[in-house]
Amino acid sequence: MRSHYCGLLRETDVGKVVELYGWVHRRRDHGGVIFLDIRDHEGIIQVVFDPDTRESFALADQVRNEFVLRITGRVRARDKIAINPKMPTGEVEVLGKELEILNRSVTPPFQLDEYSSAGEDVRLRYRYLDLRRPEMQERLRLRSKVTHLIREYLEEQEFVDIETPMLTRATPEGARDYLVPSRVHPGNFYALPQSPQLFKQLLMISGFDRYYQIARCFRDEDLRADRQPEFTQIDMETSFLDEDGIMSLAENMICRLFQEILGVHLGELPHLSYAEAMQRYGTDRPDLRFDLPLIDIADLVQDVGFKVFSGPANDADSRVTALKLQQGDRLTRKKIDEYTRFVSNYGAKGLAYIRVNDLDKGMAGLQSPILKFLPDDVVRGILERVDAQDNDIIFFGADRASVVSDSLGALRCRLAEDLDLYEREWAACWVTAFPMFEKDGAGGWTALHHPFTSPVGDPALMESDPGSALSHAYDIVINGYEVGGGSVRIHQADVQKSVFRVLKLSDNEAAMKFGFLLDALQTGAPPHGGIAIGLDRLVMLLTGATAIRDVIAFPKTQTATCLLTDAPGTADPDQLQELGISIRKMD
Ligand code: AMO
Ligand code: AMP
Repeated sequence: MRSHYCGLLRETDVGKVVELYGWVHRRRDHGGVIFLDIRDHEGIIQVVFDPDTRESFALADQVRNEFVLRITGRVRARDKIAINPKMPTGEVEVLGKELEILNRSVTPPFQLDEYSSAGEDVRLRYRYLDLRRPEMQERLRLRSKVTHLIREYLEEQEFVDIETPMLTRATPEGARDYLVPSRVHPGNFYALPQSPQLFKQLLMISGFDRYYQIARCFRDEDLRADRQPEFTQIDMETSFLDEDGIMSLAENMICRLFQEILGVHLGELPHLSYAEAMQRYGTDRPDLRFDLPLIDIADLVQDVGFKVFSGPANDADSRVTALKLQQGDRLTRKKIDEYTRFVSNYGAKGLAYIRVNDLDKGMAGLQSPILKFLPDDVVRGILERVDAQDNDIIFFGADRASVVSDSLGALRCRLAEDLDLYEREWAACWVTAFPMFEKDGAGGWTALHHPFTSPVGDPALMESDPGSALSHAYDIVINGYEVGGGSVRIHQADVQKSVFRVLKLSDNEAAMKFGFLLDALQTGAPPHGGIAIGLDRLVMLLTGATAIRDVIAFPKTQTATCLLTDAPGTADPDQLQELGISIRKMD
C-alpha cells in the first residue's frame, strides 16, 4: 500500500522506508547509477537505483517516460551539492530497493513539463496526458476547491441544491439552442438548457425560498476565449429579496472566495449604472484596474467646420469622445498607426489625436493632424475638459455611439495592457440599471438580459416607450470580465405578458412557448430574483489562465469540436431512421 505521496517527501522523512506509486517523469543514466524522477499529483521525487540492487537496477534501466511504477526504498538526505532548491522535495531523494513496473507507456506525443510547448491541438487531442501536467492538475483542483467553498457558503445561507432537467424546452438567453431529437415523438425536439432560468423561477413559486445549482448550460454561439458551448453556472434564486439583498448575497460569496483562495480582499464593490459604464468606459464590463476614462466633448465641437466631429456631435445616436493618455510621448508614430488599425477592427474610421508637447507655447506647443480644422478656442476647451498636461496625447473617436464606445473602450484596455497602466491587481464592480430592451436590427426589440427580468417603474410606460425602460438587472464584473449576471424577475403574469408584447410575441406564441410560466405566475408567485455566476470564468480569473478552456477538463475547440473523442460525429443510419431524420445536403 502507498505510504507517502512522492511530492510530499521532506527532510523530516529521512530514514523512513517508503512505498511510492507514480509515473516516470524523467529517467537519467549517470554512469552506473540510474535516476528516476517519479511523479504523482503531489509532485516529483528523485529515486536513485544503483547496481547493488541488481534486479531492480535492471528494471530501472528498462523504464521510459510515463511508465507506471511501484517503488519501495529509503528516504535519504541529498549531498549538499546535489540539493535542488527549485523542487519542494529537493533536499531529499529515495534510494530505491524494489521496483515493479505496473504498466508501460508508448512514447508520449509531448513532454509533460509544467509549461508545455506543444500546440493546443495536440494537448486537446491527448487531453488525458495534458491533464497530468502539474499546471493543469492545480487548476482543476482549485476549481474543485471553489465549488466546495461555494456549496459551503450557500448551504450556510440555507440555499437548497436542486437539479433541473437537461432535456427540456428552449430557455431564451440570447444564443441558439442545442436540439435533441425525440425517438418517441418523431419530429419533436428537446432543447438543452441555455440556463435553468425558468425552472429556478418555478422552484420559487413552489416555495423553496432559496435554490442553487452548479448547473451545466448549453449555448450554440460564436466562441471566444471566455465562451464555451457547454459551461457551468453557479445558479441561484431567492424569494422575497430585493436587488440589494440578492447582490449582497452574491458579493459576500465572491469576496469570501477571493479571500480564501487567493488571500485577496476585494473590498466593497462599487456600483455603476449601465449608462455611466458606457459613457466612462465604453463597455458594460469595465476593467477598473486602471482609470483612463472616455470624456465626451460633443458639446464643444458642434459648430466646427470639421464634419468628422460636427456630424456626430449633432446626432443623438452618436458620440464625440476623447481619451487622454499621460506621457503620450511614449507612443511612436508607428504605434499610433498600429492603434489606428486596431480601432478600425471595431468600425472606427480613424483615430484623430493631439499631442500636447508644451502647453506654455499655446497652439504652437501642440502637434496634430486635426488642429488645422479646429478653432483655437475649441482646442483650448478640449484641453481644459480633459485636464491636459505637457506630454499627454489625446485620442478622439467620432461616430455612432456604439462604434465610439466599442473602439475607444477597447483602445483603453489595449493601452493599459501595452503600457502596464494597472493600478491594482483586482477590481470588481456591479453594473446596474440596464436598459430593458435593445434594438434587434430588424426594427424590433429584444430583451437585453432575458424576457423574465422585471422592468423598473410602470409597465404601461415601458410598453409605450421600450427604448427608455430600465430593468432590475445587474452584472458582476471582475477585471473587465462579466463574471455573473442576474435580475429581479417579473412575478405578475400581466407584466410578463406586457414584456412579451414589446418583443412582438403574439398571445398564441407566448402561450405555446411560455404558457406553463404564465400559468404558474397566476398561482401565487412570490416576488423573486437571482443571479448566475460563470464558474469557468471565475476559475479562469482565480488561476490566472487566459482561456476558460484551460480550467475545463475536456473543453471544445473554438469551432465547438472535441478533438479527443472527435465529436460531433455522424449518426448511424439506423439511429437516424428511428428518429425519423434524414440528412439534407447543406448548400
Ligand atoms: P447570463 O446569460 O448572463 O445569465 O449567464 C450568466 C453567466 O454565465 C457565464 N456565461 C458563460 N460562460 C462561458 N461560456 C459561455 N458561453 C457563457 N455564457 C454565459 C457568464 C455570465 O455572466 N439565467 C441568467 C442568470 C439569471 O438571470 O439569474 C443567465 O444565464 O459569466
Ligand atoms: P481625414 O479627414 O479622414 O484625413 O481625417 C483626419 C484625422 O481624423 C485623421 O487623423 C483620422 O485618423 C481622424 N479621423 C477620421 N475619421 C475619424 C473618426 N470617425 N473618429 C476619429 N478620428 C477620425
